[in-house]
Amino acid sequence: MEALRDARVVVTGAGGGIGAALARRFAAQGACVVVNDLDEGAAKTVADEIGGICVPGDASAVVEPARAALGGGVDVFCANAGIGAMAGAEAEDAVWERVWDVNVMAHVRAARALLPEWLERGEGRFVATVSAAGLLTMVGDAPYSVTKHGALAFAEWLAVTYRHRGVRVHAVCPEGVRTDMLRAAGPAGDLVLAPTAIEPEDVAEAVFQGIADERFLILPHPGTGAYYTARAGDTDRWIGGMNRVQRKLEEGSGA
Ligand SMILES: NC(=O)c1ccc[n+]([C@@H]2O[C@H](COP(=O)([O-])OP(=O)(O)OC[C@H]3O[C@@H](n4cnc5c(N)ncnc54)[C@H](O)[C@@H]3O)[C@@H](O)[C@H]2O)c1
Repeated sequence: MEALRDARVVVTGAGGGIGAALARRFAAQGACVVVNDLDEGAAKTVADEIGGICVPGDASAVVEPARAALGGGVDVFCANAGIGAMAGAEAEDAVWERVWDVNVMAHVRAARALLPEWLERGEGRFVATVSAAGLLTMVGDAPYSVTKHGALAFAEWLAVTYRHRGVRVHAVCPEGVRTDMLRAAGPAGDLVLAPTAIEPEDVAEAVFQGIADERFLILPHPGTGAYYTARAGDTDRWIGGMNRVQRKLEEGSGA
């Protein structure tokens, strides 16, 4: 991982959770890290801790200020900021739009701003924190499931389109990770994610292994690949299994 020493790295949503773990891991490798978060105080705390640069604000508009802060270029962009809704089809349009904006459009806007630089140099690395929900689904959260499938589709499209031009893309798809997001996920999180949840540092380690192996799909949990294969191989059976999880959730809530 010598290549990451002195690399210019941006991590969005790095004020806490998985993003903070990624920022710490890149800094430990000797990279120069921009710590972005909507929560300026949280971003500053992490940046101060790791000797990074705090660039607060919305992940959708971070590339230009981050590039300026890094002295004119970005080598690795971690599109990590993400939000859930814990809502179904009944969620208002404004909720769908916000989740779409953060979980998908922030990745599109970042890639749009980064690609000219990366294609000219013939190198660049885009690390999208997606979710196992992007390969499978998340019971109880329709906007999250739909937008994470969108984020995965965009990452795949980037890899397919630009691999031969030096742009590397990774889609990180963890199941449960012990962060504020999991703590806010309520009974669905407790039932589906908490029992096998891992630490944010485990995700950061898996990302480094995935980069070393040049693997597109980074699956920090051991079982995710088998679920993904099962879903593709017999989709009705998989839906039946997930519906049993949904019914268990309803029984638990007395719904
Ligand atoms: N925790 C899990 O179980 C889990 C599992 C799979 C995938 N993920 C994904 O990992 C990523 C990080 O999640 P986490 O669990 O660390 O969540 P978290 O809520 O602990 O941290 C997310 C951080 O992103 C920031 N943020 C939110 N919207 C932002 C925006 N528009 N611009 C900049 N910053 C913003 C928040 O302020 C927060 O500090 C998300 O994309 C999430 O979907 C999480």
